This record gives sequence, structure tokens and C-alpha cells, in this order.
Amino acid sequence: MRKKVIIINRLPDIVVSRLREKFDVKHFTTPLPKNDQTFKKELQNASGIIGYGFTVDDDILEHGSQLEIISTVSVGYNHLNVDLLTEKRIIATNTPDVLTDTVADTIFGLLIATARRIPELDQYVKTGQWRGLLGADYYGTDVHHKTVGIIGMGRIGQAIAHRAHFGFHMDVLYYNRSRKPEAEEKYKAHYCQLPELLQQSDYVVLMTPLTKDTKGLIGAEQFKQMKDTAIFINGSRGATVVEKDLITALKNKEIAAAGLDVFEKEPVAPNNPLLSMENVVTLPHIGSSTYDTEFKMAVLACDNIIAGLTGEKPPSLVNESVWNDK
Ligand code: DGY
Repeated sequence: MRKKVIIINRLPDIVVSRLREKFDVKHFTTPLPKNDQTFKKELQNASGIIGYGFTVDDDILEHGSQLEIISTVSVGYNHLNVDLLTEKRIIATNTPDVLTDTVADTIFGLLIATARRIPELDQYVKTGQWRGLLGADYYGTDVHHKTVGIIGMGRIGQAIAHRAHFGFHMDVLYYNRSRKPEAEEKYKAHYCQLPELLQQSDYVVLMTPLTKDTKGLIGAEQFKQMKDTAIFINGSRGATVVEKDLITALKNKEIAAAGLDVFEKEPVAPNNPLLSMENVVTLPHIGSSTYDTEFKMAVLACDNIIAGLTGEKPPSLVNESVWNDK
């Protein structure tokens, strides 16, 4: 009997066709609300889920007793309860590496856009306000030769360090669970504790994955430790920051500006105060979203689920122990 796979959200047609060749497919083409009953019903005889825009928790797993693999089309997997999946011997896979440079480009672009006030000045030109030489009110802040502090020196953090060091001659500080001798060697990155990084950085770039330990990592106390000229960039997950404390820090001018690709609640509510601040540059959680990279992520996620459901080792396992115990 053919196994059943649930696809959540848009995937390239070629990937959907590959899955249809091998499995019975149920395709939900949009992100799923938390308590979607049709999804729960479809889960009952499903062996795998592939996609993005869903949460896997105990409630979902109660409905999916035949699940063998969850293949998320993202590098982050905070929306999956991995401990529970591991306990239930369900494989979890993600899509690292293929998005590293694309996310690093986005985050560096966000940093420059925030420092040089690009979206604000774009509006200034397009709305016909540019009538003469600009005064200091419109000046930005240099990026080159400044100090960037990267919190979370994984693959993407290191790709940001690469851009900072080689492209912009910046001094690189980093804070991470473990030291990264390679990054220290290649980018002259200096390992330091969080308070030191916050105190010394002109740009604080948050790239850590969201875990129990990093939830709310940056809050009131941490914003107070930053320079009042600091620019804060969040490219990790909204919940790594206490958003109300970020709003207060910006209002009280404890920091100068922020560039945000992620928010506590996504999509961000239209009345979120961050949206009406001129010194905040926002993106709709789009770090990896280029045609090329989304395609590569979808193909990798597809390779993962096909492998997992046909007895092969998936290329990017999150919970390796489930595979090793098979
Ligand atoms: C990822 O892959 O985790 C990106 O943040 C997109 O969600």
C-alpha cells in the first residue's frame, strides 16, 4: 500500500510531482491554523508531513499515530516538539546549508538598510520630498570598520561574520554556546560573554535558534547594556527577544535603531508600535526567500521525506538518535 504524505504550504510543482509519484498526497496550499480539523482528520493515516507553517505538538501527534517523519522546509525547527518526536520515534528533518548564504545576505542587507535608513529615504524620494541638499537629519551610520557582535555563531552567523570581516572590514565579536576556532581564525572573531558583546558592539545581530534556553534572551537588561548608538538586528526568531522591552528601549533611546525579520507574533499585528517607528526597518520573515533558495530547500525537504519513508537515511536529520536506533 502507498504511504500517505501531507504537504503543507506551497512547494514547487516539480517537488509535488515527485512526491505524487511515490505517495498518496494531501496538499494544504496555505499555512494551517493551529486547530485545523481537516488537517487532524487527514493525519490519521498519514506517514509523513512536509512543508512549513504548521506546529507539531502533542495534540497533533495524538492524531497522527502512523507518522514516521516530519520534514520541515526550514532550517529552524522550533515549531516542532523534537523531544516528543524523538520519544515517539518519529524522524524530524530540516533544510540547513542550502539557505546559509541567502539568509546571511538578507540579514546583512537589513543591517545596511537600518544603518543607512534606506527604506525611510526611499519613501522620502518617492513621495516628492527631495527638493534640495539633505541635512544631517537624514544621515545614517557607517557600517564599514565598525564592530559587529553576533549572537549565535552557527552556519548563518559565520556567513554574516564572513561578510562583515572581508566585505566591510568590521571587527567581529561573537557569543555562542561553544567556541568556534575556525571563525576565530578566518574572521578574527573574538569570543566573549554576552554582556561584553552587548557593551562593545555597534551592531548586535541575533542569530541564535529559538530553544528553551534562548527564549527571551534579549530583554530590558540586555538593551540597557547596549550602546545608545547601537543598532539591533534580529534574524533568529521573534521569541528570542522580549518584544515589549525592545519597544521600550527604542522609545527611551537606549538603542538607536532596529532591523527585524522576525516578530513575537507573525504576521505582525498592524497596531504593533514597532511598525510606526521610523528607526525600525521590518521584513516579513523572509530571510531565505529567494526563488533559488526556496527551490533548493524544497528539494532537500523532499529528499529527506522520500529517504525517511523508503528506509534510507535522510540527508539532514534533526534527531539523529531516532535513525541510529532503527
Ligand atoms: C528558516 O528556515 O528557519 C527560516 O527562518 C525560514 O523560516
